[in-house]
Amino acid sequence: MRSLIDINDLTKEEIDELLDKAEDIIANPEKYSQKCKGKKLATLFFEPSTRTRLSFEAAMYELGGNVLGFSESASSSSAKGESVADTAVTVSCYADIIAMRHPKEGAPLVASMKASIPVINAGDGGHNHPTQTLTDLLTIKREKGRLNNFCIGFCGDLKFGRTVHSLINALTRYENIKIYLISPSELVIPEYIKDEVLDRYNIEYHETTALESVMPELDILYMTRVQRERFFNEADYIRLKDSYVLTPNKLTSAKKDLAIMHPLPRVNEISTAIDDDPRACYFKQVLNGKYIRMALILKLLEVE
Ligand code: NCD
Repeated sequence: MRSLIDINDLTKEEIDELLDKAEDIIANPEKYSQKCKGKKLATLFFEPSTRTRLSFEAAMYELGGNVLGFSESASSSSAKGESVADTAVTVSCYADIIAMRHPKEGAPLVASMKASIPVINAGDGGHNHPTQTLTDLLTIKREKGRLNNFCIGFCGDLKFGRTVHSLINALTRYENIKIYLISPSELVIPEYIKDEVLDRYNIEYHETTALESVMPELDILYMTRVQRERFFNEADYIRLKDSYVLTPNKLTSAKKDLAIMHPLPRVNEISTAIDDDPRACYFKQVLNGKYIRMALILKLLEVE
């Protein structure tokens, strides 16, 4: 039985298989419409979510399966003090697979050690978000036609942004990736990502505070929200929240085929005036998220 807690739980070959499977699902949805008949997905969301939870649920419904779960900790027994481990054992009695989001780093890992069914990490604190990474890889592949030879700029809250941490991890598997890390000095990428990921795999990366100076080089710009819920004080959040606001003006020096990505939700980081720009990919990411999660559920449930 396999769980997905960290993107490195999957080999590069397995990621490629999932991306191919998602493409096949997009091309032939009817082929998959009954694959998970009689199976249940439990969505255990201890933190807010729109896309991740609903895309998991839509994915399971489109596979012919069913969904149960909760969307806030207040309505689960964790509000009475139940441990994540006990919740995982309990849900294993009712469902076939779990997707869990939790504010504590490592909670889905703990759940996976106790559950008797596969557990998918749907975001753990400021740590990891592997299914967003699969979504992002599918989007890059569909937009660029490749997963190597590009320059990507991550911009915004690189300290707490779990989607950035997981995607950087995944990109170490592909050839000739150059990374710009664009953030205010208070929100730089954690040291452990530099040591254990970027330096360890000899990835070319540069840290900067200036988005516009690197814009002409970028093939992909990955914008992120400043993660308000992870701040210790509101004053710091207010000071930093509008550090980067992408406007049409700032794109004048950008490549014509730049892909503008964002895991969403957006607060102020991308002006709505960019939404109609053909380079905007963030709503395509939303849709891709459903298909790649369909592929993942099939894999972890070992459905042929
Ligand atoms: C992200 C998350 O939850 O980490 N959202 C998502 O899952 N698409 C990004 C964010 O909350 O900023």
